[in-house]
Amino acid sequence: MARRRRIYEGKAKVLFEGPEPGTLVQYFKDDATAFNNQKRGTITGKGVLNNRISEFLMIKLGEIGVPTHFVRRLNMREQLIREVEIIPLEIVVRNVAAGSLCARLGLTEGAALPRSIVEYYYKSDELGDPLVAEEHVTAFGWATPQELDELLHLSLRINDFLTGLFMSIGIRLIDFKLEFGRLWQNDEMRIVLADEISPDNCRLWDIKTNEKMDKDRFRRDLGKVEEAYLEVARRLGILPDGGPGDLKGPAVMQ
Ligand code: TMP
Repeated sequence: MARRRRIYEGKAKVLFEGPEPGTLVQYFKDDATAFNNQKRGTITGKGVLNNRISEFLMIKLGEIGVPTHFVRRLNMREQLIREVEIIPLEIVVRNVAAGSLCARLGLTEGAALPRSIVEYYYKSDELGDPLVAEEHVTAFGWATPQELDELLHLSLRINDFLTGLFMSIGIRLIDFKLEFGRLWQNDEMRIVLADEISPDNCRLWDIKTNEKMDKDRFRRDLGKVEEAYLEVARRLGILPDGGPGDLKGPAVMQ
C-alpha cells in the first residue's frame, strides 16, 4: 500500500491526506493527555469509541442543519472529513459549573449557572490555550465579528440539541469544547463544525448518580475510564462492530 502523507499529528488524532482533493482522513488514537500535555496515558479502545461517538453526533447535528466536516466512516479508527481552515479558537459551552470555571471564579462543582455560558480560548499549545475575550478574537483577526456571531449562534444550537439528546439517555451535558473551520467551496466560505465531539471534550454526568462518564476520570485518576467511554457509546446505541470485546481496531496505517 502506498504510504499516506501525514498532514498533522495532535494529542488524540492524526490527520492524513485524503483520497480526493479537499478531504482528509482523521485517525483516532488511544492516547490521552491532560493539563496541556503534562499528564499522558492511554485509554484502551478510546479511539475506536470516539470515532463512532463523534460520527454519530455529527450526523445528528447535520440532520438539524449544523454543517460539519464529517463525510463518512472509513474503518474502526478512521473517518473521512472535509479539509477546513481551522479557526484558532476552542469554544467552550458550559451549563453547570465544573473544571476551570470553578477554579477561576471559586464556584462549587455542580452548581447551577444562571444561564449557559460561552467562552473563547485561543488555540495555542505554547500558551496553554488562554481564555480570551471577544475583543481579542476580532482585534487579532482570529475571526471576524460576523464569524464570531455565527460561532456563538452555532455553539448555542449545538448545546440545545446535545443537551436534549444526552438527557434522553440519562446523561447531563455539563460542558463541552468545540472547534470550527472555514470550508471554501468555489468562492464561497462556510463555517463548519470540525475536530470531534466525544467524552474527550465533553463533561457528561449520569443524571441519577452524578457519576462522571468522561475524560475527567482520566484527568483525576478516578478509575474505570474505558468503562465510562463504553457506557456513553452503549447508551447512544453505538458499539464497535465486534461489540465491547473488539476495541483494538486496526493499528495506524501509514
Ligand atoms: P475546562 O473546565 O477545563 O476549561 O474544560 C471545559 C470543557 O472543555 C470540558 O468539557 C473539557 C473541554 N476541554 C477540551 O476539550 N480541551 C481542553 O484542552 C480543555 C482545557 C478542555
